[in-house]
Amino acid sequence: MSDSGRPDAGSRAEAEAVVGDQPTVLVVDFGAQYAQLIARRVREANVYSEIVPHSITAAELAQRDPAAIIFSGGPKSVRVPDAPSIDPGVYDLGVPILGICYGQQLIAQQLGGEVGGGGAGEYGRTVVHRSSDVVSSILTADLPADQTVWMSHFDAVQRPPEGFVATAASEGAPCAVIESPERKIWGVQYHPEVAHTPHGQELITRFLHDLAGLPATWTMENFIDASVEAIRAQVGDGRAICGLSGGVDSAVAAALVHKAIGPQLTCVFVDTGLMRKNEGDQVVETFRRHQGMELIHVRAADRFFERLAGVTEPEDKRKAIGELFIRVFEDARGGVEDARFLVQGTLYPDVIESGTAHAATIKSHHNVGGLPEDLDFELVEPLRLLFKDEVRAVGHELGLPDEIVWRQPFPGPGLGVRIIGEVTPEMVALLQEADAIVREELRIAGLEREIWQAFAVLPDIRTVGVMGDERTYGHPVIIRAVTSEDAMTADWARIPYDVLESMASRIINEVPGVNRVAYDITSKPPGTIEWE
Ligand code: XMP
Repeated sequence: MSDSGRPDAGSRAEAEAVVGDQPTVLVVDFGAQYAQLIARRVREANVYSEIVPHSITAAELAQRDPAAIIFSGGPKSVRVPDAPSIDPGVYDLGVPILGICYGQQLIAQQLGGEVGGGGAGEYGRTVVHRSSDVVSSILTADLPADQTVWMSHFDAVQRPPEGFVATAASEGAPCAVIESPERKIWGVQYHPEVAHTPHGQELITRFLHDLAGLPATWTMENFIDASVEAIRAQVGDGRAICGLSGGVDSAVAAALVHKAIGPQLTCVFVDTGLMRKNEGDQVVETFRRHQGMELIHVRAADRFFERLAGVTEPEDKRKAIGELFIRVFEDARGGVEDARFLVQGTLYPDVIESGTAHAATIKSHHNVGGLPEDLDFELVEPLRLLFKDEVRAVGHELGLPDEIVWRQPFPGPGLGVRIIGEVTPEMVALLQEADAIVREELRIAGLEREIWQAFAVLPDIRTVGVMGDERTYGHPVIIRAVTSEDAMTADWARIPYDVLESMASRIINEVPGVNRVAYDITSKPPGTIEWE
C-alpha cells in the first residue's frame, strides 16, 4: 500500500531482536493473498508467524528453526507441469506441517497419494462430514461432525498417501481432511483462514497449540517490551526524527520509539494544508500535549498551494506534492541537525510486497513517512513485523486516542488527489467540510470500523439545481466508501440508504456551493479507491 521502501536497510537486526526466542510458524506462500491471511490468523492465536516463498529449500527452512509450517493455498493446479512446489526434504524435518487447499494437495502428491479433478469443483460454502468409519480425527476432534466450510477448488485429493487417513469428506472432496499424527502432517481441502469457515480459527488454534504444542506468547504487551529494548540497543544515545502524518502507522511508530528513547526523538509534522478537517490541530494536540513529545510543527500550506497552482494532471500533482514534502522536511531537519536515525512506519505487508515481483505502477504512491534513500539516515522501523490490526492494538496499548488508532487510511498527497483539477484553498475548504460530514454520519451510524475508507471527492464540473425558487449552478460532491481487507481489492460499501440520505442532505444544506451529491458504486478493480 505504501512505498516506504528499503525494508532491508538498517532495521532487520532490530526486528529479529524483537522476535527473540518466540516460536515461529513459517507460512509457505503458494499464492500471495492466502498466505497473508493465514499468517494473520496464526498471530491472532498469539503465535508469531512469517511468510516465506515456496522456493525456500529444506536446509534454509531448518536454519530458521520453525516451530511449525503451514502450506498456503494457491491459484494453480498441482497437476500442471510448472506448478509451484516445495523441496520434499521439508517432510523429513520433523516439524509439524498443516497444508491448506493447494498445500494439502501438494502434500498428497509429493508423498505418493493421488490428486485428480474433482468433478465440477466446489466454490463457496460447503458442508464437510467427519467420517465415522475410520480412526478418529485428531485435528477436528473438538469441532462439530458436520460443519460448513469455505471451499475454492477444482482438484481434490482422491487417495491419501500411505500412512495418512482421510477423516472427513465433502461431496466434491473425498479426502477433505487428511491426517498423519505419526508424521505430524495434516491437510485440509477447505480454507480455515477465511471468516466464511465458522470453525476455521478453532482448527488453526488446535493445530498450533494442541498438535504442534506452541505456547500463546505473541502478545502486543510482549511485543512492546521487546521493541523498547531493541530500539534502545539500536539508537543508543543518538537522536532520531520521525515524520508524522496523522495516520496510524507513523503515529504508533513514533509513540513506540518515544517510549523507548523519550526526548532523544523529535517528530516533524508537515502541515501541507491538504489534510482532513481539524486533522493538523489534532495531531499537534495528541503528540505535543498528551504524549509529551518534542514536535516541530511546520505550517507549509502556502508553499503547497503556490506549487499546485495550475497543476491539474494527477501524476504531476502527486509528484509536485511528494517533492515539495521532501524539501520541507529537509528544511525542518535543520532543527535536529545531529539526528542520525529516521523512524518509519513500515508494516509487514510492505515488507512482503517488496519481496515479490513488482506490479505495474498504477499510481506513484507518496507516503509521508517514505522519504527517499539519499537522505542520510539509518532507519528505525519498529513495526516492520506487524500487520495493521496488530499496529492498532499496539497504539491502543500505548494510550493513543481512538481517533488516531482507528483513523482510516489517507493518501500521502492528501486531499490533493480528491480534488479533480486544480487544487486551491477554496476547493480544499469545501471538500474538508463535505468529507467531515461523510465520516461523521458514518460514525453516528456505527459503521466506521467496518468500512475501510469513506470520504468525499470534488470533481471539476458544475451542475444545475434548484434551491427555493432559485436556479443554482454549483459543485457536485461524490461520496466514495469501500470495504476491503488490504486495499489491493475493494468493493463499494452497501451503506444503508437512510445513512446516504443524511450525508447528502447535510452536505447540500451545510456546505455552501454544493447542490448535488452522487455515490460511487465502482469496485476495485476496475476502479481504484482514490479518484486520482
Ligand atoms: P488506490 O487509489 O490505489 O489506493 O486504490 C489504495 C490505498 O492506498 C491509499 N493511497 C495512498 N497511500 N500514499 C499512501 O500512503 C499514496 O500516495 C496513496 N495513494 C493512495 C488509498 O487511500 C487506499 O487506501
